[in-house]
Amino acid sequence: MSISFDFTGKTAIVTGGASGIGLAMAQEFAAAGANVQIFDVNAEAAEKAAATIGPACQWVSGSVSSPEAVAASCDAARSAFGKIDILMNNAGIAGSEPSIDLPLKDWSRAIDVNLTGVFLFAQTAARHMRDTGGGAIVNTASMFGVIAGPERASYCATKAGVVALTKVLASEWASLGIRVNAIGPGYVDTALIQTLAAEGRLDVERLKQRTPAGRLGTVKEIARSGLYLASDASDFVTGQVLLADGGWSSYSYL
Ligand SMILES: NC(=O)c1ccc[n+]([C@@H]2O[C@H](COP(=O)([O-])OP(=O)(O)OC[C@H]3O[C@@H](n4cnc5c(N)ncnc54)[C@H](O)[C@@H]3O)[C@@H](O)[C@H]2O)c1
Repeated sequence: MSISFDFTGKTAIVTGGASGIGLAMAQEFAAAGANVQIFDVNAEAAEKAAATIGPACQWVSGSVSSPEAVAASCDAARSAFGKIDILMNNAGIAGSEPSIDLPLKDWSRAIDVNLTGVFLFAQTAARHMRDTGGGAIVNTASMFGVIAGPERASYCATKAGVVALTKVLASEWASLGIRVNAIGPGYVDTALIQTLAAEGRLDVERLKQRTPAGRLGTVKEIARSGLYLASDASDFVTGQVLLADGGWSSYSYL
């Protein structure tokens, strides 16, 4: 499949860009001509990922929930590339525990990374975008931001928070020329899924059967849904959640 997006002259920051969906986003942006910054808490993985992409990719290490690290990321992108056009607000952590036993520290950590981190990065990047004529922010939510997953209280609640935040920020920042949208991936074929399957903790065949598309998504497919929302092709789209889930959340039988 050929790439139909052109991001020549644009700069994109991808949080959680060292692996999985974020890495695919960074690769797709670079292939479409953008300057890219990978921001990730895992410095070693970020450096390695950026090296595979080449000179148009810088990397910065830090946590999305640290105001200092987020400011440093945006300053570094601005000084290397001149402006920030796109923020792929993608870093997130999963969690699966029975709610009745969920420790407060696990709940709080999910809020810190998945929700506070998304707000903080959006706010910091938007201040830069406001100064340079606008931009596009794409938050990675999940289909579990609009439907329930048992034993996923902190994950579902934080992703639902990302959906609500997306709509609020889109409404406030349209006048600044900043669009804010979200993607809601379903089950994606990642290392985590493969590990859980190998350990017998996840039945991939069952997931495929439950998905109308009959398969898991790929990281490239999720990345391209994100690229669409970051591109001029979606100029009049803001405050939306694009569910890239193979039909899972539309399907209620069985
Ligand atoms: N994989 C799926 O099936 C799936 C489905 C729906 C939504 N999502 C969402 O997509 C996003 C990416 O998921 P993935 O599957 O690629 O995960 P992943 O674990 O492969 O990648 C996440 C990246 O984020 C980084 N990260 C974690 N905490 C961070 C922090 N505090 N600050 C900065 N970076 C941090 C990690 O080091 C890692 O490189 C997440 O928001 C996740 O919730 C994934």
